Amino acid sequence: MKLAIPRERRAHERRVAATPDTVKRLKALGLDIVVESGAGAGVSVSDDAYVAAGATVAADYVAAVSDADIVLKVARPTGAEDGLDEIAPLKRGAVLLAMLDPYRNKPQVAELAARGVAAFSMELVPRITRAQAMDVLSSQANLAGYKSVLDAAGEFGRAFPMMMTAAGTIPPAKVMVMGAGVAGLQAIATARRLGAVVCATDVRLAAKEQVESLGGTFVMVDDEEARQAETSGGYAKEMSDAYKKKQAALIAETIRKQDIVICTALIPGRPAPRLVSDEMVASMKPGSVIIDLAVETGGNCEGSVAGEIVVRHGVRIVGHANVPSRVAVDASQLYAKNLLSLVQLIVGKDGALKIDREDEIVKGALLSIDGAIVHPNFVPPPAPPSAPTTL
Ligand code: NAI
Repeated sequence: MKLAIPRERRAHERRVAATPDTVKRLKALGLDIVVESGAGAGVSVSDDAYVAAGATVAADYVAAVSDADIVLKVARPTGAEDGLDEIAPLKRGAVLLAMLDPYRNKPQVAELAARGVAAFSMELVPRITRAQAMDVLSSQANLAGYKSVLDAAGEFGRAFPMMMTAAGTIPPAKVMVMGAGVAGLQAIATARRLGAVVCATDVRLAAKEQVESLGGTFVMVDDEEARQAETSGGYAKEMSDAYKKKQAALIAETIRKQDIVICTALIPGRPAPRLVSDEMVASMKPGSVIIDLAVETGGNCEGSVAGEIVVRHGVRIVGHANVPSRVAVDASQLYAKNLLSLVQLIVGKDGALKIDREDEIVKGALLSIDGAIVHPNFVPPPAPPSAPTTL
């Protein structure tokens, strides 16, 4: 069987879906590996390095994927409107593993199904213990949380740690982290390492202990609703309007004392919650910095723009697109391992495809196969019965 690793084409995407190390391990499964020329350029891996690991190199996308049984990608396929239709050259029955962002791209899910592609969306791999090695949300969010703090430090005109010098004392920077999930906890840890005084907020009570164990102060509206805010999967629910009002008052009170705000709050499959209003931004000191990691799903901060740094009321609101790609080498290394683990699940000992549709991980991540959408969250609703015709 042939496995292909194309070059990523989307803007802001420097990552790659396999490293020379994972190529060796994929080969050990009995697969022939083909890498599109230049696939590793964004992470300083040459075609030669892939060849040394046992891959062959194809000159372009079509040559790489057209007879591939498995295709590993980072971002969802581009379409003709982006300059190249990456789905059309895939053969019927090919398996595609990528971060397909399916909730925001339902037409593409339908297209993959119609083309007979067996599409796995890596973000949908269930967060069960057995699937930890495949958890791309964690591997990428962890690095994004780290980088968000470095990006903030780069934009901030002051130092993070307290410094007592003969010329005077520099106070420590005050950092607030919105959302204490994987990215938020890493942001807290990174900001603390740099010497900042850190506080964080979340709607899930379980986050309190984690924030405090990293040396942060936990700020939250602690009411009956907050005790029910966590789903059985460990995610946040969308909160009621009454809760949002109380939370806004608490954030408003806290935020005006902060120098840096790192926004990481997300609700799976829904737009990001709006936590920082323009009024709150105006209450911050000029020179303060807000990093909105949620910018691509609507943003936690009013006025943030994907791919831009906007200045509002003297505050820099940073909306870098694709933050994991800003740490592309490490992000690729971890992502490639995540993919390898899923490939190991769907390739049998004989090197042939063995997709067990009853497996919990397959059920969670498989969007389409054999020409149909199979994931319950994406199967189109049945057409309403046609109205009876009256003669
Ligand atoms: P996420 O990326 O979906 O959201 C980030 C954070 O924003 C979450 O902590 C969420 O509670 C918070 N949030 C959502 N709405 C908010 C609001 N209105 N105000 C303030 N905060 C808000 O979450 P992530 O990072 O994917 O983690 C979700 C959960 O999954 C956590 O409990 C984490 O510990 C758990 N997890 C479990 C793993 C496992 O293997 N079992 C692996 C990784 C994470």
